Amino acid sequence: MSDLYCVLGNPIEHSKSPLIHNEFALQTQQKIEYTAQLAPLDGFTDAWRTFVDNGGRGANVTVPFKEEAFALCDTLSRRAQRAGAVNTLIVGGNGLTYGDNTDGVGLLRDLAYNRVALADKRILVVGAGGAVRGILEPLLAEKPGEVVVVNRTAEKAQQLADDFADLGEIHGGGFKAAKGPFSVVINGTSASLAGDLPPLPDNLFANDAWAYDMMYGATQTVFLKWAGTHGAQRLDGLGMLVEQAAEAFYLWRNVRPETTQVRQMLRRMLN
Ligand code: ATR
Repeated sequence: MSDLYCVLGNPIEHSKSPLIHNEFALQTQQKIEYTAQLAPLDGFTDAWRTFVDNGGRGANVTVPFKEEAFALCDTLSRRAQRAGAVNTLIVGGNGLTYGDNTDGVGLLRDLAYNRVALADKRILVVGAGGAVRGILEPLLAEKPGEVVVVNRTAEKAQQLADDFADLGEIHGGGFKAAKGPFSVVINGTSASLAGDLPPLPDNLFANDAWAYDMMYGATQTVFLKWAGTHGAQRLDGLGMLVEQAAEAFYLWRNVRPETTQVRQMLRRMLN
């Protein structure tokens, strides 16, 4: 019998996770069945418990349930504790639920895949919501020279900087605090979803700088278009999506899938 996994979210029909995990399973010859499950907005915890009662071994969690997943876990990884959010649930041998967060590692693996250097560099992170909270610990572990977090609501960026100050050189403020040049600029806001561009100052990018949007789509986001007009090299969040999935798959199966082929497949599907 196959082991059961799923992705829980609302909405869920456009999730690429079943495709990604089924490819990983084929590639590594793991017998799993991975499906997309719509959880009711007021019934996430029940949906997870029902899945486990029916033999489920683990799940990915997506919008808007990552905080609720965090709350239901019996034990948590350190990075999930820092993030305050869980994107990977695992049923332990004792039946307890263990929660982890692979989003930050996914971003870092994608940056490494694309040979984006971080050590000693100045890095700007735009946004201060749940997505950004999930990436700061792994980002600071790369020993950048400085991380500056800016946000429309400046206090939230300052709070994040305070919360992570023990891990490295990090400062927060409003958009005006984004004083370049930065070697890497990461957009972690959801502004791209609405086609909005955070009002960032000019002169942000150092020579050979990278712009990274944690969002992705069939067409380039307004942030990446804008970064292109300023001469930055550009990456969208598709690689991060694949890498966070690969890390979750590893946690479940103890086998590390190869991501290049899956990246290429998803890119072809988007275009
Ligand atoms: P997520 O889980 O995607 O991080 P979130 O926690 O709701 O979602 O955070 C959304 C982030 O995008 C926040 O940083 C938000 O800024 P505020 O804290 O000021 O609300 C940012 N954001 C959303 N829409 C934006 C826009 N149109 N312009 C600039 N920032 C925006």
